[in-house]
Amino acid sequence: MDKILIRGGIPLHGSVRIRGAKNSALPLMAATLLAEEPVTLHNVPCLHDIFSMEKIIMEFGAKTDFNGRSMTIDASSVDTYVAPYELVRTMRASFFVLGPLLARFGKAEVSLPGGCAIGTRPVDIHLKGLEALGVNIDIEDGMVHAEGKMKGTDFDLGFASVGATENLMMAACRADGVTRLSTVAREPEIVDLAELLNEMGAQISGAGTDLITIVGVDGFTGTEHQVIPDRIEAGTFLIAGLATGGEVTVLNASAKHLASFLDSLRSAGAEIGVDSDRITARAVNGIRGADISTLPYPGFPTDLQAQTMALMTVCEGASQITETVFENRFMQVAELVRMGARIEVDGNTARVEGVSALSGAPVMASDLRASAALVIAGLVADKGETAVHRVYHIDRGYERIEERLAGLGADIERVRE
Ligand code: UD1
Repeated sequence: MDKILIRGGIPLHGSVRIRGAKNSALPLMAATLLAEEPVTLHNVPCLHDIFSMEKIIMEFGAKTDFNGRSMTIDASSVDTYVAPYELVRTMRASFFVLGPLLARFGKAEVSLPGGCAIGTRPVDIHLKGLEALGVNIDIEDGMVHAEGKMKGTDFDLGFASVGATENLMMAACRADGVTRLSTVAREPEIVDLAELLNEMGAQISGAGTDLITIVGVDGFTGTEHQVIPDRIEAGTFLIAGLATGGEVTVLNASAKHLASFLDSLRSAGAEIGVDSDRITARAVNGIRGADISTLPYPGFPTDLQAQTMALMTVCEGASQITETVFENRFMQVAELVRMGARIEVDGNTARVEGVSALSGAPVMASDLRASAALVIAGLVADKGETAVHRVYHIDRGYERIEERLAGLGADIERVRE
């Protein structure tokens, strides 16, 4: 297992190129299972989760070619609709294969993904939506057995779940007739998926609003598609620059996808410059405390909550951070406190009292975004060394984060434990 060693206290300066969005690429890869012709995705990030999804679709019989940042998937020879626990357990996002397998074969058997560190994360909305489309669902020994001819329907998700919106969109594009999905997620990744599906021959409208209309079609063709930039990666690097008192520019990023996050940074005193696909953040007069509440898009993203908390530990004054999307997403707090942060948690709200400095410490990564928060805190800490253990969490969502932070001037390295 690797660990990341950081000797902090160095303001980060410079620019860093943002990779394609992991949370887009994963459902897009699942969507290619619908087509019986090759689909090429460009701007695919080289991440552990991407390799896991590639392995899953190869197990189904698809041929893949991941060359640089482009991945071609030929699912014409896929001949199974079963995704056992051994495949699904490595990554929750593998549950995305349920919708496309059902659409293609009229049946699918996919293991329930189980919870994870940040919450129980049920899939009840995915399953209720499929039932509304006419699919029979049986759950036996942790396996979802889904079968039935899908018929267009009206279904209100009740909560704008990202994964459920994606799974239902992929299933419904092969249903007979028209499906209207309401209270759907509006994330940029949903729009990206709808665009790929439409390029493959689907008829989806309304993605990006809270009502998506899908007219069922009979088949899908091959295409080429560019994955959108990773807004969470961009936000993480901008925070790292601000927290260290530096100035970081992210290239190949979308400010539009980060609007509410950038507004929060501005209200905390950051200067944000946007120039086509570049975003620069700096704080001339320091960062002030701010109140933040995570919400489904276009609200403040839960995936940037932990990193923002790391920034708030060293700002002027107090901040209040409320997590409304996941029930257990303050895993970073205990470790930040060990580094000198002053944070009190009450239910789903954390109150952060800014301190003048953090000190380095050995810390344990617990999940992907909490780990990024610990790396940021390590970059800030101007006394001692920070060792972030269990780096595999970070590698799920950031491509060689230590090399790219070193490129911005950080004293950071990866070592084998
Ligand atoms: C996706 C993202 C994840 C992000 C999250 C919220 C991917 C691969 N992952 O996860 O990084 O943090 O969106 O922006 O895109 N829920 C239910 N029942 C369901 C589905 C969800 O109760 O059937 C609950 C979950 O437990 C959670 C909340 O809804 O508390 C949000 O989940 P959801 O939007 O589905 O997130 P994911 O798609 O799992």
